[in-house]
Amino acid sequence: MNENIIVLGIESSCDDTSAAVSCNDNILANVVAGQSVHADYGGVVPELASRAHLQKIVPVVDQALRQANVSKNDLSAVAFTTGPGLLGSLLVGGSFAKGLAVGLNIPLISVNHMQGHVLAHFARFTEESDKKYPAFPFICLTVSGGHTQLVLVRSHLNMEIIGESLDDAAGEAFDKVAKLLGLPYPGGPQIDRLAAKGDKLKYLFPHPRVPGNNFSFSGLKTSVLYFLQNNQLAEPDFIEQNLYSICASVQHTIVEILAEKLVSVSKELKINQIAISGGVSANSELRRHLTALAAEYKWDLFIPRLELCTDNAAMVAVTGYYKLLEGQLANPEVSPDARFSGMV
Ligand code: KG4
Ligand code: ZN
Repeated sequence: MNENIIVLGIESSCDDTSAAVSCNDNILANVVAGQSVHADYGGVVPELASRAHLQKIVPVVDQALRQANVSKNDLSAVAFTTGPGLLGSLLVGGSFAKGLAVGLNIPLISVNHMQGHVLAHFARFTEESDKKYPAFPFICLTVSGGHTQLVLVRSHLNMEIIGESLDDAAGEAFDKVAKLLGLPYPGGPQIDRLAAKGDKLKYLFPHPRVPGNNFSFSGLKTSVLYFLQNNQLAEPDFIEQNLYSICASVQHTIVEILAEKLVSVSKELKINQIAISGGVSANSELRRHLTALAAEYKWDLFIPRLELCTDNAAMVAVTGYYKLLEGQLANPEVSPDARFSGMV
C-alpha cells in the first residue's frame, strides 16, 4: 500500500455539506458549507436540505481538493457518511461518492457518522504536529443534535455504545428549549452565547432519574415549558427580563446531567482517558465543567477543536483512512441508512 494514503471524505448527513482531504491522519483541507435556508423554519427541513446539498456538493469538493493541493487522480479512496441522518441528504453525498470512486476506480468506504464523531479525535491539522491522542481504551461522550452516547473505544474500529439517551438528545434539548425561548435554530450556540451573561444557579431544574449509563432529556424540556408558562402568568415579559439566567440555568442542568454519567462510568470502568465529541462538545460550559472535573478526577481529557465538534468531513476522511488500513471497503451497491444503529 502507498506510504501516503489520500482520502476524500464527504459528509452530508444533516444540514452541512462538507468535504475534506486527508493524507494519512493529517487533514489537508476541511470545507464546511452550512445551509441558511432552514433559518426561517426553526429547524432543518429535510427536502430543502437535500436540494441544498445537491447545489453545494460539487463546489465544496472542488474547494477541498484545491485547498489540499490534490488532484482527484491522487486520491487513494473516497469515504462518505452512510448514516445515521436524513435519507435524502445522505443520498446526495453517497451518490456523489460512489460515482467518483467508480469513475476513478478507487475504493469506496462507508462511514458511520457517530463513529466519525469519535474518530474526530484522531484528525490532525498541519499545525498540530504534537497533537496528543486519547490512549485506548477511552470513553467518549458523543453529544450531537440527534444522539447522546457514551462510547467505550477499544481501538480505532472497535467501539461499543455503553449508554445513550432514551428520548431526546442533548443537542435536541438545547434546540427545543431555545425554541421555547423564541431563539433561532440551531439553539445550542444561542443559549451558549446568552448564558455567558447569566446566573446559572438562579433557577433549578430537576435531573432525571435514569438507571445505569443512559440519559433522558425530554423531561427537562417539559419542566422548562411549565416553568416558563407559570412565570409568564405573573410576569408576561418574564423571558425577556430573565433570558440570560434562564439560558445559563438550563445549560448548567444539561451539562451536569451529562457530567454525572461521565463521572460514574469512568469510575465504574476505571478509565481516566475521557473524550467528548459532537456539536454539543462545542459548548463552553460543558468544556469548562469537564476541564474542572478532569483536574479533580485526574482524567486525561480530550476536547476537539471547534471545527471538529460540529459536523465536518475531516472526521469522515480520517475514519475512512483507518477503515482502509483494515481493508474495510464498501460495496458500491451500499445504500444510505438513515438509522444506522451500532457503530462500525
Ligand atoms: O454534531 P452536530 O453538528 O450535528 C448532528 O450530528 O446532530 O450537532 C448539532 C447540535 C445542535 O443540536 C446544536 O444546537 C448543538 O449541536 N450545538 C451546541 C453548540 N454548538 C452546536 N449546543 C450547545 N452549545 C453549543 N455551543
Ligand atoms: Zn453530527
